[in-house]
Amino acid sequence: MSETSQIHDEAWYVRLRRALGPWYRQHRRDLPWRNTRDPYRIWISEIMLQQTQVATVIDYYHRFLNRFPDVNALARADEQDVLTMWAGLGYYRRARQLHAAAQQICDEHAGQFPGEFQHILDLPGVGRYTAGAIASFAYDQRRPILEANTVRLYSRLMGLSEDPRSTAAERRLWQFAEETLPASSQVAEHNQALMELGSLICTPQQPKCLLCPVQKLCQAYVQGNQHEIPKVAKKAAPTPLTHALVVVRRRGRLLLRCNPAGQWWHGLWDFPRVNLDPPRPIRATQLKRQFTGSALQTRIDSAFHTELKLSVATQAWLRTMRHGVTRYRIELLCFSADLDGAFNLRNLPGEWRWVSCQKSPELPLTSTASKLFSWLQQSAEPAAAK
Ligand code: ADE
Repeated sequence: MSETSQIHDEAWYVRLRRALGPWYRQHRRDLPWRNTRDPYRIWISEIMLQQTQVATVIDYYHRFLNRFPDVNALARADEQDVLTMWAGLGYYRRARQLHAAAQQICDEHAGQFPGEFQHILDLPGVGRYTAGAIASFAYDQRRPILEANTVRLYSRLMGLSEDPRSTAAERRLWQFAEETLPASSQVAEHNQALMELGSLICTPQQPKCLLCPVQKLCQAYVQGNQHEIPKVAKKAAPTPLTHALVVVRRRGRLLLRCNPAGQWWHGLWDFPRVNLDPPRPIRATQLKRQFTGSALQTRIDSAFHTELKLSVATQAWLRTMRHGVTRYRIELLCFSADLDGAFNLRNLPGEWRWVSCQKSPELPLTSTASKLFSWLQQSAEPAAAK
C-alpha cells in the first residue's frame, strides 16, 4: 500500500460514521463547552483541557469566563489577573499565551475571533489539534483532530503496532483522522464523538470493548491485542531536585516573592525558595532533631543570600512537600526563618511583597505556595502563630 492510499475503504468509514452518531447522542457527557458554538469559549476550554482533566477544568472554565467573558475583556486584562484565574491549573505558559493571543485577535482581527483555519493556527499556543477542534466545533469546518484520546482510539482502530509518537505513525494518524471526516455537515458532532469514545470507552487500561459501537471495525479488537496498543514508550525516571523555602513573618504578615521571567512559575508568587545542589533526600527526623547548627542550615542560609540577596536565619523545619514539574520531582523543605534586622524590601532585586497571614492574598500563587498558605493558617505550629 502506498503512503497516500486510503487506510480503509470508503465503506468502512461509512460504517464508522453511522455507528458513532447515535452512540454519541445517547452517551455524551453534558460538558459546558459542548453547549456553545462561541469560538472564544471553545478555545478557552481546549487550552484548559490540555494536560488537565475534564473534572478539574469545569470550575476553572466557569470562573475564567465570568471574569473574562469575551476576547476583548481578556486582551485588556492585567497578566497577573489572568494568572490568578489560572492559579492551580498548572502549565502557566498556557495562560500567558491565551492572553497574548487575545491581544493578537484585537490587533489583527478587530476583536473578532478568526474563522479562517490558518488565522486560528497563527495564534500563540494553538497547534494543529486545537485549531482543528475550534474550527470544527465552532464553525463545523472539515478539520481533523488528534489528541491523547483520539490517538489511542485511532491506533486501536487501525491496529497500529508502532509507537504513535514516531513521525511516520503521527502522519498516518492524521491521515486516518482526515479520512474519518464526513463529507460536509456535522463535523463538530463527529469529532466530539471520536473524542468521547476515546475518553469513555477506549480507555488506556481495560478498554470497554464490549460496549463499543465500533467494536467490529476495530483491528485491535479483532486481533485481540487492544491491551498492547498504543505502544507506550518507557518513561524516563524523573530527575530529583531539592528546594528550600522560608516562611518569614513580620507583624502578622508573610513575605512573598514573584518568580522572575526565565524561571519556573514566572509571574506567580511564592514563598522565597532556592535550589539546593546536589539534591539528596533529607529525612524529617533529621530535620526535626539536628537542623539547628548543622551544615545544612549554613548551606541553606548562604543559598538564600547568594541567590536572592536575602539575609535570613532559618529556624525550625516546618514540613516537607513533594511535587512534580515537567520531568523533575521536587522535594521542598519548608522552614520558618528570621530576617536580618536591617532588612528592607526595597533593597532586594525583583518583586517582593508582605501579605497578611489572615486571608489568602489576591495574587496568583504557585500551587505549593497556596497549599502552604492554607496549612499555615490552620496550623498550630508555633512559628506560624508568631
Ligand atoms: N479533551 C480535549 N478537548 C476535549 C473536549 N472538547 N471535550 C472533552 N474532553 C476533551
